Amino acid sequence: MRTILTSRVARSVLRPVADLIDQRIERRVRELDKLRNRQRPVELLFDGTGRGVSRLPAQVHLDRLVGELARISGDRAAAERNVAQSFRLLIAMEALGVGRIAGGTMNICGKLSAVPLLDPPNDEILEIGTLYGLFGAALIRMMERAGRDPHLTIVDPLAGLQLQPGTTEGADPTGTPVRGPAVRTNLALAGAAGTAARVQQGFSEDPEVRALVSDRSYGVIIVDGDHSAPGVAADLEWAEQIIAPGGIVVLDDFGHKKWPGIKEAFEKHMATDTRLRFLGQVANSGYLRAE
Ligand SMILES: C[S@@+](CC[C@H](N)C(=O)[O-])C[C@H]1O[C@@H](n2cnc3c(N)ncnc32)[C@H](O)[C@@H]1O
Repeated sequence: MRTILTSRVARSVLRPVADLIDQRIERRVRELDKLRNRQRPVELLFDGTGRGVSRLPAQVHLDRLVGELARISGDRAAAERNVAQSFRLLIAMEALGVGRIAGGTMNICGKLSAVPLLDPPNDEILEIGTLYGLFGAALIRMMERAGRDPHLTIVDPLAGLQLQPGTTEGADPTGTPVRGPAVRTNLALAGAAGTAARVQQGFSEDPEVRALVSDRSYGVIIVDGDHSAPGVAADLEWAEQIIAPGGIVVLDDFGHKKWPGIKEAFEKHMATDTRLRFLGQVANSGYLRAE
């Protein structure tokens, strides 16, 4: 059979058929290339170019996030709704804002979804470590969507780049320096509540900075500044003093392999006589509620 098919006669008879098949394959490849090129602008809305990480979660990651949120909030339908809304918000904020929101897509959507779902006892929010202020602005939006009236206070050295003791953070993938004006521009995206936010430049362990922002009890404190064990320990001790009864403390990058100091400080803190109770983990954040 093989010799018949490869004989000279067979080859000359089959050549036109083979040519036809080749032409069809080439046409399909050209069509695919055209389609791929048209898809590229759509991909640019979601991929990691210019921000470092891709914003294209797989269905399995979205499902896991909804499950984790449902577990700590007890409301699966609201968890699903908040994840969808926070995902759209994240894409929009990074498209319009200066710089980026730090971290993975599921962790960001988790925090934006969880905070309003956990129904904090008041609308005072303290974010320790803001980078570009874009997460704070997005959180204002999510709180307002839940009918809340958020007042945001931010503490960050705004030192031109992200400071982390013990690590050398290179230039930001966005190419944007971490400066006060960038934070203000981003906060303005959240309307009146964003414009009214307090921005306190400095380090969270600095007694002067602490004195200036310890003027109220916070319903929410996001610990996302110095990620070292001593830094997180100091922020948890401070949070213990200024969190309102029933208030929520969010420990960012909790359990993240790159930042072992966060869990280390948390475990030490939980062994003390603390008002904080662990609610659970959603993506890479730990949630605690004050008694
Ligand atoms: C991971 S980024 C914050 C990201 C931001 N919360 C977000 O979600 O996009 C950490 C920020 O904390 C700042 N930082 C470092 N040490 C700090 C400290 N001791 N007090 C306050 N902020 C600090 C860093 O310079 C950086 O801007």
